[in-house]
Amino acid sequence: MDPDDSEQDPETKEQYASVYVGREEDIKRSERITAVVHDREVVIFYHKGEFHAMDIRCYHSGGPLHLGEIEEFDGRACIVCPWHKYKITLETGEGLYQSINPKDPSAKPMWCSKGIKQRIHTVTVDNGNIYVTLSNEPFKCDSDFYATGIFKVIPSSF
Ligand code: FES
Repeated sequence: MDPDDSEQDPETKEQYASVYVGREEDIKRSERITAVVHDREVVIFYHKGEFHAMDIRCYHSGGPLHLGEIEEFDGRACIVCPWHKYKITLETGEGLYQSINPKDPSAKPMWCSKGIKQRIHTVTVDNGNIYVTLSNEPFKCDSDFYATGIFKVIPSSF
């Protein structure tokens, strides 16, 4: 659905308006920030010259992705959740895992995708300012569970 679609009701339109989250130079320096965008907590990473925004809580059990390390798997940059080490691609929000053919124990493990599990949001750079626009892709994403309702608040003790 187009966020600028004039058919949208005003409330929906408001929810998908871009929100200023910080200065480009500051985020490049810190390499990550957290922000609340229309009541949704997101993390914005700066990695290898690109900005990426996603739901802050891991799709698996709500782990704090802003505290994870970024590593490359199969040539793809991933945030590794600090709780159970799930790997999530920064670009697409896919969950990656390694698989091996049990009938061929000598085979090398292969990286596979579970599909999109973490909702990715759009980052826009404008005149040194960074904006995030929430995704309104009409599919059920596993991370939605921890981005809404009673699960969305991250305790400050993390
Ligand atoms: Fe992230 Fe389990 S909560 S891997």
